[in-house]
Amino acid sequence: MRLASLGEGELDRFIHGAMEIGASFFDHADIYGDGACEELFGRALKGDPSLDRGKMIIQSKCGIRKGFYDQSKEHILSSVEGSLRRLGTDYLDLLLIHRPDALVEPEEVAAAFDELESSGKVLRFGVSNHKPMQIELLRRFVKQELVVNQLQFSLPASSLVASGMEANMETEGALDRDGGALDYCRLRGITIQAWSPFQRPGWKGPFIGSAAYEALNEELSRLAREYGASETAIAAAWILRHPAKMQLVAGTTSIDRLREIAGARDIALSREHWYRLYLAAGHTLP
Ligand SMILES: NC(=O)c1ccc[n+]([C@@H]2O[C@H](COP(=O)([O-])OP(=O)(O)OC[C@H]3O[C@@H](n4cnc5c(N)ncnc54)[C@H](OP(=O)(O)O)[C@@H]3O)[C@@H](O)[C@H]2O)c1
Repeated sequence: MRLASLGEGELDRFIHGAMEIGASFFDHADIYGDGACEELFGRALKGDPSLDRGKMIIQSKCGIRKGFYDQSKEHILSSVEGSLRRLGTDYLDLLLIHRPDALVEPEEVAAAFDELESSGKVLRFGVSNHKPMQIELLRRFVKQELVVNQLQFSLPASSLVASGMEANMETEGALDRDGGALDYCRLRGITIQAWSPFQRPGWKGPFIGSAAYEALNEELSRLAREYGASETAIAAAWILRHPAKMQLVAGTTSIDRLREIAGARDIALSREHWYRLYLAAGHTLP
């Protein structure tokens, strides 16, 4: 989403650096940078034969247009054509429906997915920001497995876990904002991809180092010392520690930061530390 801030040489170095540390899964969307993110990525791929498309997992998303949502067959197909052209690739490993469309006709989504699958233009399918019943509606018609639901999840933005733990209470955290998406995805074997893993809710910037999250930052620093890792790695490890085995979608454009985040793979937070971070982020346990 933030790739367009990189110059061409920088982007090439970033992709190489990411591949070297095993971060070979790239998350795009037709709307990122108004197409510029896919375009620049595609140019980097084309301009550097040492970048091996076959070793990458390239995902894109469709369905958000200027001022409205559109899951019509026609739009899904034309959006994928645009993404493939900009990325300079014959296929997407994964296509996600970016946001639920109130006017969705699931038969149309099904027809688009069939065409994309049979032409080999998309290998796997999923959704983003979808509630369980919206996924069930799609599943009634779509014959391909929906393998991913990309949702906001971070230490401060953790209603996905809060609403479950505060069930039956009148507390703020008890608000069910997603229809029980976490348990539903676990039941159905749908992988949750956590977007904005380091951001404060409401696009207010990162919480790491933010004065608005003093207690959380103190706890992150304490555990960073204990685990011999950075605060960023501890915040990432908090997401990876969840047994739903979520994927973390990092938005950094710095290879050093990506390396730090990847360090979370080697950290297994204890149950007690996981909860301590959760409480330090301002949540409560009934
Ligand atoms: N499906 C959806 O609706 C949806 C919505 C939003 C995002 N997304 C996807 O999720 C990806 C991640 O979202 P995001 O970019 O908001 O996530 P993020 O990884 O939480 O935030 C990355 C931004 O935070 C900055 N940052 C500052 N300090 C940081 C620290 N200590 N650790 C990590 N980052 C720090 C990064 O700067 P540097 O570049 O300097 O590191 C970068 O600008 C997007 O790129 C997009 O692919 C999906």
